[in-house]
Amino acid sequence: MWYARYGAVRRKQADRRSRAVVQMDEAREQHITKLLNSVQNDHARPDRDRWEARPSTSDNWQTDADRGGHSYFTPSVVKDELPDNWDEEDPQEEEEREKLRRTDKDLEFLFQDVVRDGSLDDDLMRDLQSKKSNPKYKEMLKFREKLPSYRKKEELVELINSNSVLVVSGETGCGKTTQVTQFILDDYINRGVGSMCRVVCTQPRRISAISVAERVAAERAESVGNGNSCGYQIRLQSRLPRRQGSVLYCTTGIILQWLRSDTMLSSISHLVLDEIHERNLQSDVLLIIVKNLLALRDDLKVILMSATLNAEKFSKYFDNCPMIHIPGSTFPVEEFLLEDIIELTRYRPQNQDCRPSWKRGFWQGQNSRPEKEEKEAEYKDSWPCYERTLQDRYSDDTISAVEMLDSNDKIDLELILALIRHIVLQEEEGAILVFLPGWDNISGLNDLLTAQQMFRSDRFVIIPLHSLMPTVNQTQVFKRPPPGVRKIVIATNIAETSITIDDVVYVIDGGKIKETNFDTNNNISTMTAEWVSLANAKQRKGRAGRVRPGKCYHLYNGLRASLLDAYQLPEIMRTPLEELCLQIKILKLGSIARFLEKALDPPTEKGISLAIKNLTDLNALDHSENLTALGFHLARLPVEPHIGKLILFGALLGCLDPVLTIAASLSFKDPFFIPLGKEKMADMRRKTLSRNSKSDHLTIVNAFQGWEEAKRRGARYEKEYCWDNFLSANTLQMLHNMKGQFAEHLMRTGFVSSKDPRDPKSNVNSDNEKLIKAVIVAGLYPKVATIKPSHSKKRPGVKVYTQADGKVCIHPKSVNAEETEFNYTWLIYHLKMRTSSIFLYDCTEVSPFSLLFFGGDITIQKDEGQETIAVDKWIVFRSPARIAHLVKSLKKELDSLLEEKIRNPAPVDWENRQSKDCAVITAIIDLITTQEKPTGNTQGHGRPWASSSAQRGQHVYLNDDDNDDDDWK
Ligand code: CDP
Ligand code: MG
Repeated sequence: MWYARYGAVRRKQADRRSRAVVQMDEAREQHITKLLNSVQNDHARPDRDRWEARPSTSDNWQTDADRGGHSYFTPSVVKDELPDNWDEEDPQEEEEREKLRRTDKDLEFLFQDVVRDGSLDDDLMRDLQSKKSNPKYKEMLKFREKLPSYRKKEELVELINSNSVLVVSGETGCGKTTQVTQFILDDYINRGVGSMCRVVCTQPRRISAISVAERVAAERAESVGNGNSCGYQIRLQSRLPRRQGSVLYCTTGIILQWLRSDTMLSSISHLVLDEIHERNLQSDVLLIIVKNLLALRDDLKVILMSATLNAEKFSKYFDNCPMIHIPGSTFPVEEFLLEDIIELTRYRPQNQDCRPSWKRGFWQGQNSRPEKEEKEAEYKDSWPCYERTLQDRYSDDTISAVEMLDSNDKIDLELILALIRHIVLQEEEGAILVFLPGWDNISGLNDLLTAQQMFRSDRFVIIPLHSLMPTVNQTQVFKRPPPGVRKIVIATNIAETSITIDDVVYVIDGGKIKETNFDTNNNISTMTAEWVSLANAKQRKGRAGRVRPGKCYHLYNGLRASLLDAYQLPEIMRTPLEELCLQIKILKLGSIARFLEKALDPPTEKGISLAIKNLTDLNALDHSENLTALGFHLARLPVEPHIGKLILFGALLGCLDPVLTIAASLSFKDPFFIPLGKEKMADMRRKTLSRNSKSDHLTIVNAFQGWEEAKRRGARYEKEYCWDNFLSANTLQMLHNMKGQFAEHLMRTGFVSSKDPRDPKSNVNSDNEKLIKAVIVAGLYPKVATIKPSHSKKRPGVKVYTQADGKVCIHPKSVNAEETEFNYTWLIYHLKMRTSSIFLYDCTEVSPFSLLFFGGDITIQKDEGQETIAVDKWIVFRSPARIAHLVKSLKKELDSLLEEKIRNPAPVDWENRQSKDCAVITAIIDLITTQEKPTGNTQGHGRPWASSSAQRGQHVYLNDDDNDDDDWK
């Protein structure tokens, strides 16, 4: 015990000694002092502009230096200048809205008042009458009339007209999404009030909004958009219908965006919320808003549509509003479980460690939710009994294969391959639909299939389907292939309800679904493939019986089937809430907690307060929960707040292109794949691509740039480049598209002057690696970890710690995983996830100056005789007080400058080096860029601890094993 305590004391002393030193040379010190003085004088001049008049920046910098607290985005100042907080009556606001209307394409459809137009009413009626003799329309009508929903047409219309809210439920494919909207529109047109009808129908995904709109347009013998009767609007992409007498399909996010400009949604006559059973975050939020809105607008009609049973729950939420169920008419579907599939295919798993996961002890502690662990325990207890029941009907080989395959962590793609072969060779024709949890599995199976001679022939069309794939590729999924050609669609749960592929006869249900979970106790996200719920399984099965009797193969055994949850937990209860909190604020919905407590299933109080705290730390909210200027912009960016901040700072500091690459990959996925059996080779290639940057983020930037260059040279080079570097061209293309969207947003909000991420004006500093790292700090702070040397021979590399978790590990895929030669002792990371232990998935080594300028509050203090400067009190550097004060003052200038830039977005004028903006930013960039490896006497060459550990002797770390890390917290 005494030794342990002694060890801790010694370690603390050692930590103190090994602190990096923050210094600057004399010439620079003088330059900065002069700069700050001149900036100061600038503040004192009477003609300065408004923000400079604020007292916080007009004090003399030298006396001001010690005042605590960072100054980002003081809300009191921001408040009366943001559109968000404008006075309702303000004519200036009207003008500003008008401007928004003109410039923001996503809002284009919104600002139309529903005013009756008699002559339009007549035109619409004539037009609809004339359709009745249009052969295309007639043919489509024949199809529509066969849909179960068509039989309920009159009843639906009557219920909608006589109630303000209606819940419509019905089996997938019965014609809810495509028909109900048309019933409403045609009823209005036939009654001679067509111009008063503006139906808007929300979809949870971009692809379904487009495909459904196209379908409805075709059913009406029209083209989509072009001022016709049906169109769509998804973010940054639209085909708008005519302004009155029309149906618009849009994503849920678009409505939330509209609500910012028009809280009453006054231009919508009917709001149809589709697929609400999915319980995704946005639709749950929209439900709360719509419930409030109904109290204010008695003319608004709301129709809630859901695929499965849960209709009562929604009706209850809306004060027991009426419900209508559309009975389905699907064909019977025969179901097979894992044991049947093994028996059919005689498949034997190839994995080396084939013991079931629970026997490997893997599941313990891996699941973020305790209920899941209980389920696993139950599974384990019941297995012997279940095994006995299998013995009557299945061979021993099958039973042992079933036992092996019930693994929690992987889907056996080889088994799916075997099953597809079986269907293709033994069963009649008909499309096959495979459900897999995520892109990795989808592309994995796609590769497996296309590697086989058999599937490369033109008797097969293989279509991977994922919501983030380019929309053009996705439309071919609906096309019926010519006879003799079999379609194989590999999809996520996107194909469960929101899109219907009619010709599917065989469904392979992988049994898993990707689920993010958030552990509020540890502030850690997990994203794992979990077992599907019974509701998912039922939906998946239903997809096989659209055109004739079908077959559905579930990749789980009967015991697992009996333990499936009835429904998936609503997203609002298992995801981090930061983005949502910002939405609530930008929509002016009042107190976050009070708003969320009205949800259908409210998130936990702990989750809410953690999100608010994180947003306050990020300076997106102030301490009274008001949106700051930064928060305002983050709320408008379609990414989580940290990544939003990264994007804004990349724009402001002139390194847009690389920063957007990083932002896109962090919000989607990195473009590397790990080829089975070639992991070491892939690690090496990534290491080469990292160019010794000690940064996963910069490695992606380098890979992306390499890809762009190869692509420019031609398709062959592109393919070769991706192949050599284990890169996915598909993912890179998606990142490219996302970058374009971000840049377009930045241009619209005024941060940059071009929508091209590569525009030279936005990239004056893009070659400056150290600055890019500093921008990463700006975005990802406070996700900081520190490095200490490891003396373990078994595990080379370094030991990594975070403030909250103590010891963590760098994920093996990171370029820093086995790195031993770091220049600095701090890392910044984005994704921390607990699987077998806590891993940092991506990280970048960062310098003291980047943490000082772009991290949290700076304090200057004396620690047992040592003069120090600290970021948020825990990232401590040694620094002479004089220099520390200088750094702090310079940071203050930077903060107020960035605050101004964020309040009044404008590109930085890099040409005018004399401008104050440029002078302050340049001084900081200079400091960050030229900061050499730390020069203090505790720092070695490239190994900051090398000499210091020698100095204090190895014994300091002797008992510094995995167990005593708590001391560090
Ligand atoms: O919304 P719900 O699942 O009830 O059905 P729906 O999406 O309105 O689809 C009704 C029918 O229209 C489907 O069964 C398909 O036959 C057809 N449809 C189509 O062919 N193409 C689409 N993009 C959407 C629907
Ligand atoms: Mg639907």
